[in-house]
Amino acid sequence: TLFRSRGGKMDHKKEQQKQQAARAAADYIKEGMTIGLGSGTTSRYLIREAGKRYGQGLHFYGIATSRDSEQLAASLGIPLLEPEQAGKIHLAIDGVDEIDREFRAVKGGGGALLREKIIASWAEEVIWIMDESKLVERLGAFPFPVETVPFGMPFVKRRIADMGAVPALRMGDGKSYLTDSGNFILDVQFAENTDISQAAEQIRNMPGVVETGYFGQMCSRIAAGTSSGVKVMENPHRAV
Ligand code: 5RP
Repeated sequence: TLFRSRGGKMDHKKEQQKQQAARAAADYIKEGMTIGLGSGTTSRYLIREAGKRYGQGLHFYGIATSRDSEQLAASLGIPLLEPEQAGKIHLAIDGVDEIDREFRAVKGGGGALLREKIIASWAEEVIWIMDESKLVERLGAFPFPVETVPFGMPFVKRRIADMGAVPALRMGDGKSYLTDSGNFILDVQFAENTDISQAAEQIRNMPGVVETGYFGQMCSRIAAGTSSGVKVMENPHRAV
């Protein structure tokens, strides 16, 4: 079965799978489109592939979901739009941290969840790209990212702990990690068998929370690199 529990001995193939998925998704970039450029290692493959195609004469605009992606895209010559300049976003391509059979995903391992969700929600089409380790039977193994304004973080942290979950403030370089929007991230480990979509909604309603890493069924399709090639699957439940 394609969907399985996380883990396994495929690490050596992972990068190749990510790259294959990125290439398959890049085929959906057409002349004149505005493309939401995702964040993370898989998205970096996509941006490189898109940059290559731009260099070969395929013209499109990018709108980046993080400073990292913006820098990479700019270095490859992809013209970038700021939100106020962007009209329609025709397609967004981004990675995921976990995705289940219902096309429900958890994202934000790279801390770019807020912009990623904004772009995904405005895009006409969304493609999520991944290696097969991201396909899971059940969401929840990956620590669930919650972005909070700094002032609200201690309150949100206590309320999440009251839910029976374990929140940890994300650190980077010995300090609290700051998102591109200047917020903190709490990485939350839920108790086993927690319904992530319900928990995400409860957390989303806490004052101080800016966004969560729960991306329920927002993609139009996924492209997953696997040991037997790239699988492109349409999402029949797409809800934006
Ligand atoms: C960043 C994200 C990334 O898309 C997600 O973490 C996947 O990253 P990678 O492709 O490196 O596994 O949501 O906020």
